[in-house]
Amino acid sequence: MKFSKSAAYDPEFVRANMMGPNSMKTLEELAGYMNFKPGMRVLDLGCGTGLTSIFLAREFGVTVFATDLWVSATENYERFLSMGVADRVIPIHAEAHDLPYAEAYFDAAVSIDAFHYFGHEADYLDKHLAPLIKPGGQIAVAVPGFIEEYGENIPMDISPYVKPEYNFHSCNWWQSLWEKSPLVKNTVSRSLECCAEAWADWLASYNPYAISDREMMKAEGGRFFNLVGMTAERV
Ligand SMILES: C[S@@+](CC[C@H](N)C(=O)[O-])C[C@H]1O[C@@H](n2cnc3c(N)ncnc32)[C@H](O)[C@@H]1O
Repeated sequence: MKFSKSAAYDPEFVRANMMGPNSMKTLEELAGYMNFKPGMRVLDLGCGTGLTSIFLAREFGVTVFATDLWVSATENYERFLSMGVADRVIPIHAEAHDLPYAEAYFDAAVSIDAFHYFGHEADYLDKHLAPLIKPGGQIAVAVPGFIEEYGENIPMDISPYVKPEYNFHSCNWWQSLWEKSPLVKNTVSRSLECCAEAWADWLASYNPYAISDREMMKAEGGRFFNLVGMTAERV
């Protein structure tokens, strides 16, 4: 797959702000299943350093509420100013179970490489995320996961690195979870094509976590990992 939009960003800026597999490329692919229109209000949940928030504002002309726990609103605001998007990207420091937004406030929500930290909980989607989206609005999530579902029996080659509590699951696992929700419909869960490339970009960065992930990815050898991309519509 060609990432013509992501390719327009300074690779050094992207590398310096990555927190996992290349989130811009992941979002560019996932956005192919969505319908963003200028002026829409979009929640970017677990935005980290806000690479995806910057991408959404610049590429689609939407207003983004860049929401994160580990990265402060002040740090993100400075980045948004430096990237010339501070008028359209609002930095918010919040916990995913205590989001400070009105119900039906957003036209869409995206969450890249963050939803597995909280969204694996059976009631998370219905209790915390879906109510914030307008009827007919879009929800898109990408999470690291597995090609097959292993439950507690993670294959030996990767079990030293990936624990069950990391909440890595298959496309089918996530699909079943969302299909139980009365608040969303038309759920589709698919393996994202960008998986290998997004991971390779992360491993090539100088982030200490990326450096320590290199050993895990060598053991994984392209056999188990997946990037699960889910989309659904708010009822
Ligand atoms: C691996 S980073 C990914 C960041 C960014 N989306 C990206 O792809 O580069 C995971 C992000 O999830 C956020 N996160 C994890 N648990 C959270 C929670 N309970 N509430 C809000 N954000 C959370 C963290 O703050 C962190 O920035």
